[in-house]
Amino acid sequence: MGLHYFFNDTRIFSVTNQTMSAGESRETFSGRSAFILAAIGSAVGLGNIWRFPYTTYENGGGAFIIPYLVALLTAGIPLLFLDFAIGHRYRGAAPLSFRRLNKGYETFGWWQVLVNVIIGVYYAVVLGWAAVYTYFSISKQWGDKPVDFFIGEFLKMGDISNGVSFEFVGMVVYPLIAVWIIALAVLALGVQKGIAKSSSVLMPLLVVMFLVLVVSSLFLPGAAKGLDALFTPDWSKLSDPSVWIAAYGQIFFSLSICFGIMITYSSYLKKNSDLTGTGLVVGFANSSFEVLAGIGVFAALGFMAASAGQEVSEVAKGGIGLAFFAFPTIINNAPFGSVLGVLFFGSLTFAALTSFISVIEVIIAAVQDKLKMGRVKSTFVVGLPMMFVSVTLFGTTTGLPMLDVMDKFVNYFGIVAVAFVSLIAIVANENLGLLGNHINKTSSFKVGFLWRLSIVATTGILAFMLLSEGAKLFTNGYEGYPSWFVNTFGWGMAATLVVVAFLLSRLKWKNETKFEVEE
Ligand code: ALA
Repeated sequence: MGLHYFFNDTRIFSVTNQTMSAGESRETFSGRSAFILAAIGSAVGLGNIWRFPYTTYENGGGAFIIPYLVALLTAGIPLLFLDFAIGHRYRGAAPLSFRRLNKGYETFGWWQVLVNVIIGVYYAVVLGWAAVYTYFSISKQWGDKPVDFFIGEFLKMGDISNGVSFEFVGMVVYPLIAVWIIALAVLALGVQKGIAKSSSVLMPLLVVMFLVLVVSSLFLPGAAKGLDALFTPDWSKLSDPSVWIAAYGQIFFSLSICFGIMITYSSYLKKNSDLTGTGLVVGFANSSFEVLAGIGVFAALGFMAASAGQEVSEVAKGGIGLAFFAFPTIINNAPFGSVLGVLFFGSLTFAALTSFISVIEVIIAAVQDKLKMGRVKSTFVVGLPMMFVSVTLFGTTTGLPMLDVMDKFVNYFGIVAVAFVSLIAIVANENLGLLGNHINKTSSFKVGFLWRLSIVATTGILAFMLLSEGAKLFTNGYEGYPSWFVNTFGWGMAATLVVVAFLLSRLKWKNETKFEVEE
């Protein structure tokens, strides 16, 4: 057994080679472009394609661009830099990096890991649906009534007000198992051969497919009407705090920040990496993709409205409604509908797959660090139980409502809550100077007072988000679901994450050795 000692105060580290921590080798990305593609692969996902367009439309259309840009520039990019700094400096997945920053912070890392456990088990489900719908697009399997098909025939969804039933639904279960196997196979191959290689194939493919889809949508009759609806600004919305909350929520989820992903990925970056230059590329690429998705989706919704003689407001939807209700209708009516369908659902599948891989990697890397386990073994130790839970809970007739509640609560009382608590700790303990210096050592774009100010300000905004969303959910419940259901899968799940995170941080590290960082 090795010595069990570590430093609490990060300022007393001495010099060593950063690609090695305490004698153990750590996988690395082969270079900057491999990392950028993987990070963009993580960022661009369901958040961009099915969440951004409708969030923009609902929150002031063209006017939403202001809170969105403010959130991107004052929270998204600065926190992306912060995640990069933590992962790159401390060379670990979230728990290890936080522990090396300050021994007392390990719980934050595990909390982030557990957020990924929740996101992972339901993200896979949507990914599985998207993959099946890519195939369904060819024959327009959903027929004339896509909503009835999705709810009734495809999901065989039960009415939870009559009690929950957990019967397996074959059409959901098999693709769900398949996406798990594919993702785990990629992850078992490791950081460069698995994660980076898959992103280097899927990302360019996604961009090409999506561009063809967007350009084709722009030629559909009624497209202009959709774009008008999306971009016509409703300035009055800017005085509504919930619009600002929506912008910050969108940025956090979409950029994959503050839930361990970017910490983990940046821990695989080589020593002299330009963290801010890379962060700017990732941040702006993600937002560009989002805006592109908004244009493509609303052009298609404009066509849907025009062909049904309706207003865009009557057909505009987000999330599940957009992808699985509206798009099949568009595909039914558009010229070359099947081609558009394959492009849309194929893009959704590729975008979600690379994000899903990053979500699971956070957990695998954390287990590898803590138990000193090899890549393949940890992939199975993490992947198989998660696949089991994912299939058991979401491959059933109650999958959809559970997914809805968990998604809502894990976003606010997982991502936003852990971001708030960890930022408070980092700011209060004056770690920002140290991390800023680390960034500036190798980065082209230097950070300073404004960066630190943005992080402090964001901490305040996160507190406001938590309080206002918490109060709303506490008083109104969520989407009319029975309170026992929301209490169990919403509040209960969110509280369990904190308790389990704390317990995990108490477990002893296997062969923990001294870590030294270059100053
Ligand atoms: N960032 C990923 C997404 O947008 C998780 O879906």
